[in-house]
Amino acid sequence: MEQYDLTIRPISGREELDLFSRLPYVLNEELADDLAAGRRRPEWMWVALRGDRLLARAAWWSRPGSDTPFLLDVLDLDLDESVSTADQVDVGVRLLHTAMAATLPDGSPPPEYSRYIPPDWRENTATRQAVESRMAVLERTGARLFVERLRLEWRPESPPPERGTRLAFRPLRDAEELVALMTSVLDGTLDAHGRDDLTRMSAQEAAVKHYEDELARYTSPQDWWRIATLRDGEPVGFVLPAHNGYNPIIAYIAVLPAHRGHGYIDDLLAEGTHILADQDVPRIRASTDLGNVPMANAFQRAGYVNFGREINMTWS
Ligand SMILES: CC(C)(COP(=O)(O)OP(=O)(O)OC[C@H]1O[C@@H](n2cnc3c(N)ncnc32)[C@H](O)[C@@H]1OP(=O)(O)O)[C@@H](O)C(=O)NCCC(=O)NCCS
Repeated sequence: MEQYDLTIRPISGREELDLFSRLPYVLNEELADDLAAGRRRPEWMWVALRGDRLLARAAWWSRPGSDTPFLLDVLDLDLDESVSTADQVDVGVRLLHTAMAATLPDGSPPPEYSRYIPPDWRENTATRQAVESRMAVLERTGARLFVERLRLEWRPESPPPERGTRLAFRPLRDAEELVALMTSVLDGTLDAHGRDDLTRMSAQEAAVKHYEDELARYTSPQDWWRIATLRDGEPVGFVLPAHNGYNPIIAYIAVLPAHRGHGYIDDLLAEGTHILADQDVPRIRASTDLGNVPMANAFQRAGYVNFGREINMTWS
């Protein structure tokens, strides 16, 4: 599609990955594998070109095999100083409008935007401008900031957190047991996605959606998952270590409302970290909302390093 002197189009296929990757971003190195695994499609990967110069790009990711984009996780502008920020943003808006109209199904809100950024992005002027330019593009298509998250990593150079003695750990009985516990822990959650779900559905529906759409899809063994109990068998919480296809992760961890405020999260996180560390993993990734202070503090106590942040924006 020609707009003034801009060409806005999807890439033709993997042969155009070099063109698409001319703008730098940490996900560039995953694009080829994602295409091969069906997590991306050329028709979901859009470029805005002036002549042969790449001015902006956008791409969606999906779960393997799904026909619908699940996440807008690439949006980049050429930040060349010879072009004003307003012009850069204009190009991004034209690209995103065109790509959204051609790629997304009518009638439902566009999938969430996710962007990895440095932990100190507000302090560095150039980084801050880049983040804010991209957010300005998204805002002009109707998106709003939903939540800022901390990206966390435990590395084998750190000693694994010490296991406590207060709790016992056992595998799950079945998915129903987990979904029932997941339903209970939504009560009083500080997690923005969880709280948002509760404005639109019951806690049980939200737990089932979380389980079916994410947790049940991990191909790592579910016998890594643990329920924590008091010595008399009463459940206190759960920790779900997993592998998401890219990294070993703490997929979900929670303490039941009646047991919050006793530091049990430290025991759960130590258990989950050991389960993965015992398999000689190169790293363990996790993330939590900036506003989920008890969880963020627990990761810090357990030796997880905050190596980045993530911005999520949504369309209502
Ligand atoms: C986050 C969570 C695991 C914390 O577990 P915990 O064992 O209670 O953590 P701590 O005992 O270290 O709590 C530290 C402080 O935060 C408070 N706190 C913990 N969870 C809280 C919550 N959801 N809302 C308000 N305050 C909370 C505790 O009462 C305690 O306060 P105090 O220092 O005044 O005594 C628990 O709240 C939870 O399961 N939340 C829902 C699920 C979730 O967010 N999981 C993480 C997803 S990444």
